[in-house]
Amino acid sequence: MEELVQRIKEDGRVLGEGVLKVDSFVTHQVDPDLMEAIGYRFAEVFAEAGITKVVTIEASGIAPALFAAKKLAVPMIFARKAKSLTMDEELLTSSVYSFTKQVTSQISISRKFLSSDDKVLIIDDFLANGQAAKGLVELCQQAGAKVDGIGIVIEKSFQDGRDLLEEMGMRVVSLARIASLKNGEVEFLEGDA
Ligand code: G4P
Ligand code: NA
Ligand code: NA
Repeated sequence: MEELVQRIKEDGRVLGEGVLKVDSFVTHQVDPDLMEAIGYRFAEVFAEAGITKVVTIEASGIAPALFAAKKLAVPMIFARKAKSLTMDEELLTSSVYSFTKQVTSQISISRKFLSSDDKVLIIDDFLANGQAAKGLVELCQQAGAKVDGIGIVIEKSFQDGRDLLEEMGMRVVSLARIASLKNGEVEFLEGDA
């Protein structure tokens, strides 16, 4: 997605350890116009898939997922990282290991929001090692829902996430694909859409 690649070139900052800082438009301050364009692009790609729910994880996945869901005219569900006080009902849960934080955490969605009738589009802002997306796939599978694909805003292609998800049989569509962050420079691969 050219508009996204241009924005990363202009406003992205490379931190050491292979991290791309995009806090001025994705992960902290959020650009609504760009998020709308991103969400609508995912909706276009998955327009014929019969998607019934868009699933993401808080916090930074919510903005692009919401716009995709709006365009597809389906609900958006975000998995929670902490158990909410009002989540007294039955939960779908899975464990997500973070390589960066070296901790395993539980993510969850109320069972009542996903069923075996659902066809899900999963969306997230970053794909690094793929543990968050894998956890979301597992939540959907626990509900018997079918995951039709995974839409990623920024894929770090030098990490293992895409391989892991494709080995699970998932279709991965990334709007920006980053080959390398070496020497403080962002090098791109051709994006998927
Ligand atoms: P994994 O899910 O791919 O296995 O990722 P990892 O544990 O390595 O990443 C943990 C968090 O860092 C995730 O956000 C992920 O989206 C984010 N992340 C990974 N690589 C980058 C990067 O290069 N730049 C930025 N800005 N973020 C990155 P989180 O903390 O769980 O989410 P959120 O609440 O901020 O959305
Ligand atoms: Na995220
Ligand atoms: Na994030």
